Amino acid sequence: MKVLVIGSGGREHALAWKLKQSPRVAEVFCAPGNGGIAQVATCVPLAANDHGALVQFAKREGIGLTVVGPDDALAGGIVDHFESEGLRIFGPTKSAARLESSKVFAKQFMLRHGIPTAAGGQFSDPAEACAFIAKMAVPIVVKASGLALGKGVIIAQTHAEADAAVREIMVERKFGDAGTEVVIEEFLDGLECSIHALVDGRGYLLFPSAQDHKRALDGDRGLNTGGMGTFSPADKILPPAMEKRVRVEVMDRFITGLRADDLDFRGMLFPGLMITPNGPKVLEFNCRFGDPETQVLMARLDSDLLDLLDATIDRRLGKCGARWLPSPAVCVIMASGGYPGGYEKGKPITGLDSVDATVFHAGTKREGDRYLTNGGRVLGVTALAATLGAARERAYADVKKIHFEGAHYRTDIAARGL
Ligand code: AMP
Ligand code: GLY
Repeated sequence: MKVLVIGSGGREHALAWKLKQSPRVAEVFCAPGNGGIAQVATCVPLAANDHGALVQFAKREGIGLTVVGPDDALAGGIVDHFESEGLRIFGPTKSAARLESSKVFAKQFMLRHGIPTAAGGQFSDPAEACAFIAKMAVPIVVKASGLALGKGVIIAQTHAEADAAVREIMVERKFGDAGTEVVIEEFLDGLECSIHALVDGRGYLLFPSAQDHKRALDGDRGLNTGGMGTFSPADKILPPAMEKRVRVEVMDRFITGLRADDLDFRGMLFPGLMITPNGPKVLEFNCRFGDPETQVLMARLDSDLLDLLDATIDRRLGKCGARWLPSPAVCVIMASGGYPGGYEKGKPITGLDSVDATVFHAGTKREGDRYLTNGGRVLGVTALAATLGAARERAYADVKKIHFEGAHYRTDIAARGL
């Protein structure tokens, strides 16, 4: 079978890399892909949101399955578009993807179905939002409802800051239409953890836990980023008893909710969780694979990814299991200097030939026989070993062999898991 992966980041590199290993896959295509993805797939210069052109390509090339990486393609209805053309695609419909693309919709879904989440309110009127804020204790969390490239969440330390956040989001429209509505909620204290589960509408298959490091600098300081590194499993944060609670309180209720609300969700559900003294609370739902969580999960997956995606689409997850390597995995992101703020591109990358780890490319492009930086997050250096500590050492040993001008990485990825 020919498969098409849509997207251009490290997540898509990891998905294409894993799909390529399937004996059932003849060829992998990636649109638009990047310099490193070209090692495992044929890159096609089509944008992830150009649904019409992607449909045409899939038909012309005889693609048997398309796998969608980015959230905005799902929110834009790419799955509905492909299916209406009789093409097979992995991911939730536009209507179901509102669980990620509208935080108000997600919050109402959680409340309706008893899924634990932060207490708060949802507003389409800024004055009502501010009146609600006035009655809350600080810190206060203000969220733009729509997709805002991970930047639409503000943790306000004072009431004035929370009011200002409402003004920026709803009146000044800093995030455009993503700010038509806001969610205001209590601040939760605890440890964050990422859960991934394939969901076929009837049941789910839970993946091992992972933890992302969202801040740019060591010790969780600095600005929020797309994610500076991951490790899996995160079983110190999500021990078996807590995982059981996640199954019962989040995943089982999620499936019940899908059926009650008649939502066609077949795809990857990735809830961001806060593990609090009162148990797990859902911070947000993502309806796609996480980046860079996918890099460590694919490194550890010992089953055929294509079989799992097929079982999800055909609602056969109940009869299906997944094998995982017992070895922990660590992914360290090497980013361009300045990221998540402004940064330069086009820096030559050296040392890639001298590493043992698997290097998933995010912002790179190929020029002649060398790779150049081409984005904020550049590489995800991903290592497996018998223990988390050894995986961490292997990843960092290889990070030190790779060079590009201005390279920045955190030195404490996975430290919390040890
Ligand atoms: P979200 O996009 O909703 O996951 O929020 C982005 C980040 O903001 C999360 O990864 C958390 O670090 C933080 N966050 C969101 N909601 C809360 C909350 N209610 N309490 C504490 N931190 C939060
Ligand atoms: N790693 C966070 C995300 O993919 O949203």
